[in-house]
This record gives sequence, structure tokens and C-alpha cells, in this order.
Amino acid sequence: MTTILSGSASQALAGRLARALEATLLETSYDRFPNGDLFVSLDVDHDLALEDERVIVVASTASSDAHLELLLLQDAAREAGATEIVTVIPYMGYDRQEQAFNPGEPVSSRAVARAISSGTDEVVLVTPHEDVVCDFFEPTARQIDGATVLADALPDDLDHPVFIAPDVGAVSLAETVREAYGRGSTDYFEKTRHSETAVDISPSDIDVDGRDVVVVDDSISTGGTMSEAVGVLTERGVGRVYVTCVHPVLARSAVTRLYTAGVEAIYGTDTLERAVSSVSVAPVLAETLELTE
Ligand code: R5P
Repeated sequence: MTTILSGSASQALAGRLARALEATLLETSYDRFPNGDLFVSLDVDHDLALEDERVIVVASTASSDAHLELLLLQDAAREAGATEIVTVIPYMGYDRQEQAFNPGEPVSSRAVARAISSGTDEVVLVTPHEDVVCDFFEPTARQIDGATVLADALPDDLDHPVFIAPDVGAVSLAETVREAYGRGSTDYFEKTRHSETAVDISPSDIDVDGRDVVVVDDSISTGGTMSEAVGVLTERGVGRVYVTCVHPVLARSAVTRLYTAGVEAIYGTDTLERAVSSVSVAPVLAETLELTE
């Protein structure tokens, strides 16, 4: 039997996954002690209520509290007797610091991966920022490609579409979305990052005049990357521009920034539950998790 536990920020995805796997979704209370410590409580009526269960904890860790909450859920599952715990992290915070970029810095992804590994038998990530992040888990985390569902959100009538990666690291994602869409071509730009919010985009020489463009990235954080890419495209007489990503972080004024830059629409998945999360990674996760049952 499989039971699903959800982090407070991943309830819709956990529900969809429970439906797809025909698993039980267990209600959980999320609270805080007066001193600020987080507290979770599973809706079970006796000790060892999860004995002999495979428990899947689904929790994106977009905040430090969400990381802590995930650790508490793992421990609650173990305390309730779960025989196997699988931890699904749809969006993993701290995955952008996958190396010490300067002396004195931590490898933050490794630090949080070690903590998470201590409470689980297996970890599944959705499109981590870098593959190496999987290796920080013990045992090595598996990853699924969240980009496979992104084409489902796009309009059917794209005119000679071009799927563009805003940097070379996103080329395979753009290719995945193009393949799933079924037609169009793929290209990529070069990106130079100057700061957390400022990037420069050097376009390729692809002719986008009058064509609809879909810019594809793993995540949109401040919207700096996408808005620069959209600006470059608009100068070249592009048709409609859509931006799509697996993880719609959309920090600060990212949404306004993107619409101001000229996008027609923003699409993301439910690894982060936002207004633009129009497609779900639940079917892809279910397929992976079913195979290992
Ligand atoms: C970075 O390498 C990622 O692939 C994304 O391009 C990045 O997260 C986008 O960040 P922002 O929206 O702040 O430019």
C-alpha cells in the first residue's frame, strides 16, 4: 500500500499524484509553536498506523521552512512505522549553489541533500538545476524531466514556432518541448550573468520575423533572463512570444517584468504552485514511481 504525505506548499501536486497512483493521501496539519518552531501532525489514529506502508513525501523546498517541514514529515512517517520512505522534491531550493563558487562558501545543495538523505530510502527530483545535485544524495537521487509536459499548455496554433533556450544549459529542455509539441525548430541564445538580477543575452542569427516563439528554461526566478530574451526577440519583429519553464519561482516582480517585456503568456508546472502553473508533473512522477513499486 502507498500513502502520500504532502508538504504545505505542494498540496495540489500531492493530490494529483495520489489520484494518478491510486494511493491514499493523508491529511496533515501544519503549525508552529509559540517560539516559531515548525510542527506537523499526520491524521492517524494510532501508533504505527503506517506500518508496512510505502510512504511518499512530496514537498517542494522553496523556503528554509519548507526544508525543515520536509524533514519533519519524513520523521513523522518513520515514527508511524513506514517501512519505506520515498521523498519527492518537485522543486529543490538551494540547488543553485551546487559548488563553492568562491573560497569560504558552502556547497549548499550538498548540505541540504545530506540532511534529507538521512530520513529517506530514496529521493526523486524534478529537473534539478544541475545533474550533479543528484549525486549529493545517498543513495543518488533519480531525476525526472519536468519539461515533457510543458508543450501541453501551449496554444495549438503556433505559427512556424521556434523553441528557444535563453542559454546553452536549457537547449535540451527546448528540444524536449519542441518534440512534444510536434513541430517547429529549436535554437539557443548565449547568456552572461552579471548579478542575481542582471543578465545579457546574445541572440543567435535565427530569423524570427513574424514567427511565434516559445522561450524555454528550467526556472524563472526574477524574470531577468526571460525578459532580456523577449526584448531581443521583440526587436526582431517576432510574432507572439510565450515563456515556459518547469519551475515558476517568479520572485519579486517577475510576472510584471515579463508582461512588460511583451510576453503573451507565462506557463509553468506545479512543482511550484503558482497562478501560472497550468500543467502538472504528476503523470510523469506517477510513471516513475509506479515502475519502482
Ligand atoms: C539559471 O541558470 C537558470 O537556468 C535560469 O535561467 C535562472 O534561474 C533564471 O533566473 P532569472 O529569472 O532570475 O533570470
